[in-house]
Amino acid sequence: MGSLDGFPTWFEVGVSTAAYQIEGAATEDGRGVSIWDTFAHTPGRTLAGDTGDVACDYYHRFAEDLDLMAGLGVDAYRFSLSWPRIQPDGRGKPNPLGLDFYDRLVDGLLDRDIAIVPTLFHWDLPQALEDDGGWLNRETSKRFAEYAGIVADRLGDRVRRWITLNEPIVHMAQGYAFGSHAPGKSLGFEALPVAHHQLLGHGLAVQELRSRGAAEIMITNNCTPVWPASADEADEAAAMVYDAFHNRLFNDPVLLGTYPDFLAALLEPVIQDGDMETIRTPIDTLGINYYNPTKVGAPTQDELPFDMKQIDGVPTTAFGWPVVPDGLHELLTGLKTTYGDALPPIYITENGCSTDDLIEDQFRIDYLDGHLGAVKRAIAAGVDVRGYFVWSLLDNFEWAEGYSQRFGLVRVDFDTQERTPKASYHWLAAQLRERG
Ligand code: NOJ
Repeated sequence: MGSLDGFPTWFEVGVSTAAYQIEGAATEDGRGVSIWDTFAHTPGRTLAGDTGDVACDYYHRFAEDLDLMAGLGVDAYRFSLSWPRIQPDGRGKPNPLGLDFYDRLVDGLLDRDIAIVPTLFHWDLPQALEDDGGWLNRETSKRFAEYAGIVADRLGDRVRRWITLNEPIVHMAQGYAFGSHAPGKSLGFEALPVAHHQLLGHGLAVQELRSRGAAEIMITNNCTPVWPASADEADEAAAMVYDAFHNRLFNDPVLLGTYPDFLAALLEPVIQDGDMETIRTPIDTLGINYYNPTKVGAPTQDELPFDMKQIDGVPTTAFGWPVVPDGLHELLTGLKTTYGDALPPIYITENGCSTDDLIEDQFRIDYLDGHLGAVKRAIAAGVDVRGYFVWSLLDNFEWAEGYSQRFGLVRVDFDTQERTPKASYHWLAAQLRERG
């Protein structure tokens, strides 16, 4: 039986990428500096000192990559726009050459009949905004909304669906709390305003996009089912705290207009009148990135209110991440239980794995097959899931891990830029053909 058998005919299958991870051409056509340029060029920040300067050279080769997507037979493509390509300093007059690039990309997708699902922010903040505090500064929310309007003014005649932010939890935690991602700040709990200002930026951007005729707007949140390490009260309590930070901090305000209580108290100094209403501006669909569940126990040190535990007895990806397809079913049905009628239809905007197999990636095939099965069961259980996007089309710049973690359906030789479809690419193409 094919992995896509039993899905509704309208169920959308796509692939996902992000600008800094693939585009390269970091100094071309007036592109400004992003926090990821700065971070990756700072010694010791990324594995082997890798940067996105060239990446997959997609800025020059995107037509070839769109052909690869067409060959795969996907319905849709989720990609991100580089803010510093469009507004080199994050504010003011747009750079026409930056917009031209996305204009060509959009036309290339229309030509190939691939649905267009752009993300406005996938972590590459213009450095000039970071110099003024980045997402710690409330002003950045307004700049983000202005940028959203500029993009919609240029592409909105052909693009009707938008994703505002990608994984605000990861950007806040890794970028501002722990310092393992750009901008490399280690502020611990002092990073929390980054959550509020991203969410405020999201709400303001939704209003800008809507006023320009957007038909479908979503936010992409990274979500994980949280497993307490045991049935002990202390472990259960720690799991609830982790769930609040990772999942509810971003889902509750967007869907319900509130923060979990203890987080609302911590955020009180930065919440202004009207903010929660802005953040709750209605969206149409919710993007979920799922990779694995998280096991959490009571804290044993002072820094964090929980301990992260290893999940044993399951396969792990090249990254060491546990493979638990059922976790996706648990997550989706859990969201339905938590939010009920407030839960909009869902897209899985990312799911995938890194492998060391360069071409014969049976591991990835099993991974995708297992997770598609979990989605199918969630739909059968009454969760409205509209589509599934594989992370990723190409091997690419995996942030702090540089080029060492390969998530692509297509292998990229970073010396020659040669693209070679992997076994998983041919497998997915066959599933999509069979589905018809
Ligand atoms: C989520 C992020 O959105 C994406 O940029 C990253 O490459 C994948 N996870 C894999 O870590």
